Amino acid sequence: MTRLSAAQRQVQADFLQQARDGRLEKPVAEGSGLPNLAYTCADFYQLEQQTVFRNNWVFAGFQHQFVATGDMQPVTIAGQPIVLVKAEDGVIRGFHNVCRHRGARLVNEPRNCKKFICPNHSWSYSLSGKLIARPHFHGGGQHDVDQSDCRRADLVEVSCVTWHDWIFVDISGEAESFSSCIEPIAEVIDAYDFSALRFYESLEFEIDANWKLAIENFIEPYHVFSCHPWLNSFVGMEERQPPTFKDKVLSCGYQFQQTDPARGGELPWFPNLPGEKHNRGDWFVLFPNFGFEIFPDQVDVFIAWPQGPAKCCETIALYFVGDGASAEKYSAARNHVTQNWNDLNHEDIGIIERMQQGRASEGFDGGVLSPYWDPVLQHFAVLTTEAIDTSSVSGS
Ligand code: FES
Ligand SMILES: [Fe+2]
Repeated sequence: MTRLSAAQRQVQADFLQQARDGRLEKPVAEGSGLPNLAYTCADFYQLEQQTVFRNNWVFAGFQHQFVATGDMQPVTIAGQPIVLVKAEDGVIRGFHNVCRHRGARLVNEPRNCKKFICPNHSWSYSLSGKLIARPHFHGGGQHDVDQSDCRRADLVEVSCVTWHDWIFVDISGEAESFSSCIEPIAEVIDAYDFSALRFYESLEFEIDANWKLAIENFIEPYHVFSCHPWLNSFVGMEERQPPTFKDKVLSCGYQFQQTDPARGGELPWFPNLPGEKHNRGDWFVLFPNFGFEIFPDQVDVFIAWPQGPAKCCETIALYFVGDGASAEKYSAARNHVTQNWNDLNHEDIGIIERMQQGRASEGFDGGVLSPYWDPVLQHFAVLTTEAIDTSSVSGS
């Protein structure tokens, strides 16, 4: 159940009134994107956490960081403490990271443990969330270890799926199935043998802008000729297609003539890659904030973590094929990719922060969009608006 405060209900009403002024229904040439308040207002940010980030499949972690049984990591999703753990059966599970007794947060840092033990009164839970014991529960020396009696106090599990190296949670438990959400992506990447992918490294960035601006910028290629001259020298605007979208998946891609040395030039490729993928790059966003790019030699994940109305962090995780991720002979090529991402991203960050600054202006409120390049931005606005409107969610 989505529970909203009075302030959140008020900002929900204000936002829906602005978003439903026709900007989303009109053809793109006459329509617009999200109103400024979606990028600037603290109450809207909280509302968004309670709806967009609670009621969808949201990226929560990387499988490669869970090697041994008992590896656990705290993470905050939708403003709530969650813990991911590799359970006894080898499955990565997610739980509300809170003790059932007095509500202490259970896990504060990544660690490996045989069980969860609350530091407050030492209640313990198995890695699959079952309450194991409550010391002195019935008085001094009177421990409760009767598990049949303990069930009421098991940890509360959240829906969790692992797809390739990526772990997603749905706190509401009511999102549509993960497999149907990613169907539009699965169709396109079917030809790539993901079992050959190896994680290389992650890059982290802090940005003084709302997370939505980072995602919108990631999916739209219209800015490339203006913001990324080096990238544009390899793939010009004439070779680029506008982004497309289907339900919660936004997509873009291109067929390149010239091989960019940072993308498909020097590193090993996916095995048995069909010819039509040899000179191709595709990228995707799974609403709300998870994206990735795929090229013949690499996959680059892009996550924008909300940190406040005007603040987000980005994680860019780089994967290469086979020993492309580790062999010494490819170190120069890997450095080239890392350098390229650093350069490109700093070019983007400057412009993303300027778009954030522009949203304090009365002279802007959603923008005049390009009917060729920007339909995806209007669709992103529709997805956000639908997620914010909880009127169709029972009990909201
Ligand atoms: S709060 Fe966890 S055991 Fe009491
Ligand atoms: Fe960019």
